[in-house]
Amino acid sequence: MNKVIVSLLLTLGISGLSHAAGDAAAGQGKVAVCGACHGADGNSPAPNFPKLAGQGERYLLKQLKDIKAGTAADAKPGVGRKVIEMTGLLDSLSEQDLADIAAYFASQKMGVGAADPKLVTRGGELFRGGKLEQGMPACTGCHSPDGSGNSLAGFPHLGGQHATYVAKQLTDFREGNRTNDGDTMVMRSIAEKLSNKDIEAVSSFIQGLH
Ligand code: HEC
Ligand code: HEC
Repeated sequence: MNKVIVSLLLTLGISGLSHAAGDAAAGQGKVAVCGACHGADGNSPAPNFPKLAGQGERYLLKQLKDIKAGTAADAKPGVGRKVIEMTGLLDSLSEQDLADIAAYFASQKMGVGAADPKLVTRGGELFRGGKLEQGMPACTGCHSPDGSGNSLAGFPHLGGQHATYVAKQLTDFREGNRTNDGDTMVMRSIAEKLSNKDIEAVSSFIQGLH
């Protein structure tokens, strides 16, 4: 059999497995250890820990797999997503565990914060209008006008997310410290057009968006 067919079969096999449906009720029993940072229902109280409640299931599952790969003891640089705080936490979890956890958090509701009134105008302009002069598209195209994302496509829900966390992600994408947006580099190519001031404004806007 030629190599292309073998790798195609492998890919199909792997993606077949990864589509194991998550069971939210089972997931609830597997997230006790996550609550300390992310909140029991996924609404984390701390601004540097992302809210997971109401996040899209497909996006969550992808992140869990990426974080598991990126924090493994033998992880190669640039593979997956490195979350130092979560080192070792996902090692013993199976593909089904991750799917159940994703289903559980997706079934919760994300709480909303507030935008800084001084930043909201500029933040809203960037979110809804992008920076056309630099060829940067509006965030709404993928993350939707109300920030709820597109769960089937795996575009994350942003509305209500902590501004501190969002700003760190945008900076990490821009600096190449988060690379799990894949070969399309969709978020890295957007974030490279954002100044520190832009990031502060759009992140604050997102925190209050609903
Ligand atoms: C010690 C604190 C801590 C614990 C415990 C923890 N996490 Fe995290 N988690 C973090 C931090 C910090 C980040 C974001 C890191 C960054 O800035 O990129 C994160 C990111 C994530 C993300 C990505 C969210 C997104 O919007 O992209 C997911 C999903 C996640 N954690 C799931 C879990 C699950 C499931 C558990 C329990 C098995 C867990 N975490 C336990 C600290 C923690
Ligand atoms: C063409 C589609 C597209 C556009 C336009 C886009 N994004 Fe994204 N964004 C994505 C995808 C896809 C991901 C998930 C990448 C991954 O799998 O890790 C993402 C991830 C993110 C994340 C990380 C979320 C988390 O929970 O960690 C943030 C923050 C974000 N985008 C903000 C923005 C902002 C702000 C804009 C506008 C300036 C924007 N995005 C425009 C597709 C897009």
